[in-house]
Amino acid sequence: MKFLIMEYQNILSELRDNILYVTINRERKLNALNKATLSELADVFAFAGKSEEVRGVLLTGAGEKAFVAGADISEFSDFGREDGEALARNGQVTVFNAIENCTKPVVAAINGFALGGGLELAMACHMRVAADHAQLGLPEVTLGLIPGYGGTQRLTQLVGKGRALEMITTADMISASRAEQIGLVNYCVPASELLEKAGQILERIKLRAPLAVARAIKAANAALHKDEDGFNVEIREFGESFATLDFKEGTSAFLEKRKPLFVGK
Ligand code: COA
Repeated sequence: MKFLIMEYQNILSELRDNILYVTINRERKLNALNKATLSELADVFAFAGKSEEVRGVLLTGAGEKAFVAGADISEFSDFGREDGEALARNGQVTVFNAIENCTKPVVAAINGFALGGGLELAMACHMRVAADHAQLGLPEVTLGLIPGYGGTQRLTQLVGKGRALEMITTADMISASRAEQIGLVNYCVPASELLEKAGQILERIKLRAPLAVARAIKAANAALHKDEDGFNVEIREFGESFATLDFKEGTSAFLEKRKPLFVGK
């Protein structure tokens, strides 16, 4: 079954077999993130989090050239200090952190350039698959800036400080295969297989207990938050899992040697 979710100006969103396909659709501007696109992304991810129909999200960019070539530079070229800070804070809270904290698994399918805010967007997703022609980088220092949508934090978490600072301070792009080698993306695949590979991951997750998947995301996210004790979050979420129908179903199915039928409750 295929549904078109809300009509947007800058993104396409389609619900197919319980996977929400979100495509950033500003191909002529290499899918650069302007204010309107960010607001639509915030909206569609809020929908994804709430809807029981949505079991996972695949996020990609329109065309073959770019996933997202960054924040839209034309929108902030005359900004001052306060505007800059507000831009980063609003973006982080409403979009980037919201995606990371989404209770549905989010896979980025990186179909070309993932630069600046584009790589930050991919890093806010839970997993990443890149087409072999994709190039990834954080070029903000070439503009006299630093990454502002969580890039210094998430790149450091994903690849370690030395590699992160090399990418951030040289502003050099890396290939998709190098990104796979250093753990920045989960897989590097031929472009023709990109959406299939990203979709396959979500199809596997769809077989699992939805609430357990949501709790696993929450606990793994807690590993990266200094103000939370991730081990305690894991203990709590583990305990909560025992109170679900899906726990009863999963363990009964195992003992009865049959496939579980999860209901997300
Ligand atoms: N913000 C706004 N517009 C952008 C953009 C961005 N981040 N990235 C690309 N575009 C626009 C270009 O201005 C151009 O628009 P135009 O046709 O109206 O002039 C269009 O997208 C195509 O880009 P172009 O630069 O002509 O393509 P290219 O193949 O020559 O170069 C890139 C591709 C990705 C190397 C180059 O576009 C680039 O360096 N983009 C900016 C990357 C960046 O610094 N991102 C971090 C921002 S914080």
